[in-house]
Amino acid sequence: MEAVRLTGVMGARVDGIDVRTLDDEGLAELRALVCEHEVLVVSGQALTPYEQVEFSHRLGPAADSPFIEPSADHPEVIRVLKEAKDGNAFNFGGAWHSDFSFQPSPPSFTVLHAIDLPPWGGDTCFSSMTAAWDALPAQQKEDLLAYRGVHTARDAYSPRMQAVHSGLSGMNIVCDESAHDVTLHPLVRVHPETGRTVLFYNRAYVRDLVGPPDDEKKRLMEWLHLHTTDARFGYRHRWSPGDLVIWDNRSTQHYALNDYAGFRRELHRTTVAGETPIPA
Ligand code: OGA
Ligand code: MN
Repeated sequence: MEAVRLTGVMGARVDGIDVRTLDDEGLAELRALVCEHEVLVVSGQALTPYEQVEFSHRLGPAADSPFIEPSADHPEVIRVLKEAKDGNAFNFGGAWHSDFSFQPSPPSFTVLHAIDLPPWGGDTCFSSMTAAWDALPAQQKEDLLAYRGVHTARDAYSPRMQAVHSGLSGMNIVCDESAHDVTLHPLVRVHPETGRTVLFYNRAYVRDLVGPPDDEKKRLMEWLHLHTTDARFGYRHRWSPGDLVIWDNRSTQHYALNDYAGFRRELHRTTVAGETPIPA
């Protein structure tokens, strides 16, 4: 399998394969490429929702997806959809995040398949949390190793956020009180497949820290956001029809741009269950 790197820090692209016909060896190769490059673009796929689910299952069992009603086509598929008439409504994934990091065992991989794209815009930005970690000075690494992130969906999916999500006529996002649940994860984790060290932070769901002095927490979290989303750690994907993008949710953040008001954008998402983060 020939993978072409997309930046100096993250992202690779594979052309000329059909994920439906990969044998076990090919699948293992693909999985290793996702872990190594953190985002893998596989071009030219034509998967039905059922075929996408079958492919995802080969990476691992489906993850639990709270708050988001699945597609009528398949209970394990989320239709990431903004209709043309939704205009400037807040888009799904429209803030820097790592998928469902508030869960005790957050997803390992997310698979997103481009179905219907606007004529321009709707790119997805990714950022490497291994590159963000590697760039830190030794003293700061030592401090961060002792901290934990307080993950919660409360500022995304608690009932007061319902109106924000109801602007998407083609998605059914149902906020509820369970969004207030809190999970502690190490701020610095070890990737279970590559052994690399990862700064496991995202502003959407990490809403507090355990470890730093109280009067430094806010500033540190704001700094972590700015640092981890710096352009030098990132790759911005411009979608083409048929793209299947697989990202490692344990070592990246991502952000869906919302610059295509008046046009329709539909992608199909499947999400693979992950493990409890291992502290570094
Ligand atoms: C997601 C997500 C990004 C996009 O599906 O988890 O954040 O570009 N989507 O639609
Ligand atoms: Mn997402």
